Amino acid sequence: MKISTLAMTLLFFSAAAQAAPGPEMQKAIHDGKRLYSHETFGGNGRTCETCHVNGGVGPGKLPDGRSIPSLENAAAIFPRFNPRAKKIVTLEDQIHSCVHGGLQGNSPAYGSEQLVDLVSYVTSLAQGKPLDMDGKPN
Ligand code: HEC
Repeated sequence: MKISTLAMTLLFFSAAAQAAPGPEMQKAIHDGKRLYSHETFGGNGRTCETCHVNGGVGPGKLPDGRSIPSLENAAAIFPRFNPRAKKIVTLEDQIHSCVHGGLQGNSPAYGSEQLVDLVSYVTSLAQGKPLDMDGKPN
């Protein structure tokens, strides 16, 4: 009984710790969300939101109407093997290729604040999800 109470307490505190990213992290997530919804990166006028609708929560929709998986577990399944590229890709690589391909824009450089902010926003969607390297998007 005592042990399970202790376990519950630990669970409670680890869950509470997970639910509250610090202020710097919250700012990166917030700035990333703004880029996600508004930034065209000098491309064809699309934003991330054009295809990954509702902030990436729930299924996305391509301009031709085809449905694509949500981004809800995206951060948990990278790095993963991309059969088309025939190599292991990271979340940064995937965002890069979406900016080039989907937005036809100039992708923010690796290590840039903009790419870090986008990664932070997309990762926030998977907060608490178990890591599932090379898993399936859902
Ligand atoms: C024109 C539509 C389109 C736009 C705009 C777009 N994407 Fe994507 N995105 C896709 C498609 C299609 C996939 C599916 C994977 C693939 O084709 O490689 C994808 C996959 C992803 C994934 C991986 C999802 C997973 O779980 O495997 C992430 C993360 C992602 N996009 C982020 C972004 C971000 C961030 C932006 C904005 C900078 C963006 N995308 C803009 C079409 C788009």
